[in-house]
Amino acid sequence: MTPETARWWQRGIVYQIYPRSFQDANGDGVGDLRGIIQRLDYLRWLGVDAIWLSPIYPSPMKDFGYDVADYTGIHPLFGDMADFDRLLDEAHRRDLKVILDFVPNHSSDRHPWFLASRSSRDDPRRDWYIWRDPGLEGGPPNNWLSVFGGSAWEWDEATGQYYYHAFLKEQPDLNWRNPELRRAMHDVLRFWLARGVDGFRVDVIYHLIKDDQFRDNPLNADWRPGQDPFARVIPFYTTDRPEVQDVVRELRAVIDEFPDRLLIGEISLPIERLVAYYGADLDGAHLPFNFQLIDTPWHARTIDFLVREYERHLPPGGWPNWVLGNHDKPRIASRVGRGQARVAALLLLTLRGTPTLYCGDEIGMTDVPIPPDRVQDPFEKNVPGLGLGRDPQRTPMQWEAGPGAGFTAGDPWLPIAADADRVNVAAQRGDPGSLMSFYRELIALRTREPAFSVGTFRVIEAAGDVLAYERRHGGRAFAVAMNLGGEPHAAELQAGRVVLSTEGGRAGEAVGGAVALRGGEGLVVALDGA
Ligand code: GLC
Repeated sequence: MTPETARWWQRGIVYQIYPRSFQDANGDGVGDLRGIIQRLDYLRWLGVDAIWLSPIYPSPMKDFGYDVADYTGIHPLFGDMADFDRLLDEAHRRDLKVILDFVPNHSSDRHPWFLASRSSRDDPRRDWYIWRDPGLEGGPPNNWLSVFGGSAWEWDEATGQYYYHAFLKEQPDLNWRNPELRRAMHDVLRFWLARGVDGFRVDVIYHLIKDDQFRDNPLNADWRPGQDPFARVIPFYTTDRPEVQDVVRELRAVIDEFPDRLLIGEISLPIERLVAYYGADLDGAHLPFNFQLIDTPWHARTIDFLVREYERHLPPGGWPNWVLGNHDKPRIASRVGRGQARVAALLLLTLRGTPTLYCGDEIGMTDVPIPPDRVQDPFEKNVPGLGLGRDPQRTPMQWEAGPGAGFTAGDPWLPIAADADRVNVAAQRGDPGSLMSFYRELIALRTREPAFSVGTFRVIEAAGDVLAYERRHGGRAFAVAMNLGGEPHAAELQAGRVVLSTEGGRAGEAVGGAVALRGGEGLVVALDGA
C-alpha cells in the first residue's frame, strides 16, 4: 500500500459527532446541524478528515435518535433538509467527508411501517417486523432478552402476537429476512448516497438476522445478580447468525453503486468473530469497528497482545481500525485517567489502522456525574444503578468558559461538566502545552508522514508499563514509545531524534539506547538512517 493507492478512509481520521451535544445554534439546549456547520472550521483546524454524525432523523427520541421514525428525513430539532444539504456542501468544500449513522436493525414504533405492521395480521407490512405467537405455556415465545433489560418480546393486544425488540420496546426489530424490507432499506441508502453522503456507520449490524427457528439462547453460567441483566443469556441465536453475512454483502453492493463510499459496521464481538464482517471476499464492511481498546486493561502486554491478535486475524487485504471512545462507553480520560489521556491519543493515532475519535476526547472531557432527576438515557432508567447509563459521556461539548460553555445560549439537555470553565476548546487552543494542541500536532504528524497511515508496524518492546513499536514506510521509520504507568521507566530505542512528545519540550532531542520516559509520557522518534 502507498499513500497514492490508499483510499481516503485508509489514510484519514474519523471524528464522531454526537449531534445533540456538539453545538446548539438556536438556543433550545440541543445541538443542531447549523451548529455543526459553525464548527466545521474547528474540525478542519484540528485536522480530521471525516465526520460521522450519530442519527439526525425524525425520531420520538426514546433512544435519542436510534429510534428512527423516517429514514429519509431530518428531525426538526436538528434542522431541515436544506440545512443538511448545506452541511454536506460546507463540509465537502473543506475536504471533510460526511458519514451518516444508519440504523437498520430496528425502527421507532412510530415509523409508518410499524404502524402498518401492527395494524393487522394481514397487513402487507406485517412481515417487515418479527411477530410470534406466545410460547407453549403462554407468555413470551422464548427466552430472548432486550439489551436494555427485560424480555425482548412485547405483547400486542390488538393482533394477539408478540413482537421482538432487541433494544427498547419502542424500537421493534425489522425483519431482514423479508426481501421487500431489504429493498426498501437499500433505497434508503441510495437516497443519501445520491445526495452526496460519503458513507455509513451501520448500527448493530451483527444483530440484523435472528434464528429462524427462534431457539432459546443458552444461559450464561458466569452471570451473577447485580451484573448487566442482558448477560444472563449468551446471545447465540439473536446475533452474529451466519445468514447476516449475505445482508452485509448486499449493503456493501449498494454502497459500491456509488464511487468511493465507505461502509463501517458497529460490531461488539470478539476479534475472531469481528473479522468475518470484512466479508469472505472483502465484500462486507470496509471497516468493522474494532472496540478492543475500549475494554482493554491499560497494560503494555495486554495491548500488545490484542494488537497481535487483531493483526493475526485480519483477512488478507482487510484494513484495520481502532476506536478509543464513543457515545456508548465511558470516556477515555475517565477510564485511564487524565494522566494517560495523551498516551491514549498517541496510541490511537499511531497504531496501524483508521482511527475514530469521539468528540470532546481531544480536550480530555471526562464522564459527567448526572443527578438522578436529570437522567435521560433509557438504559439507565431501565437498569438503574449498575453504571450502564450513557449520559455521562454524552454531555455538551465544552467550547469556552461561561454558563453554556459556548454550546448553548439556553438550558442544555444534559448538564455541562463542572470543569468546563477550565477544560474547553478556547482555553486549550491558546495553550501549546494542552491536550488539544497535542492532538492537533499528532494528527498533523500522522497526516504528513505516510509511515503512520500506510506503513508497516512492528512491536519493539512490551513489558511492564512500556509499550514501544515502529512504523516504517518508504525509507522513513519512527519509533513510538509510551509509558502506560505513573512511574518513570526507560524504553530501549534505536538512535534518532524526538519529533513529538506528550509533555512538549523534547522535540529535537537526540535519543538512543535507554530512553527515559516519565509517568504517562510518550514520544515519537524519527529513527536515524532508516
Ligand atoms: C448502538 C448505538 C446505541 C443504541 C443502540 C440501539 O449500540 O450505538 O447508542 O442505543 O445501538 O440502536
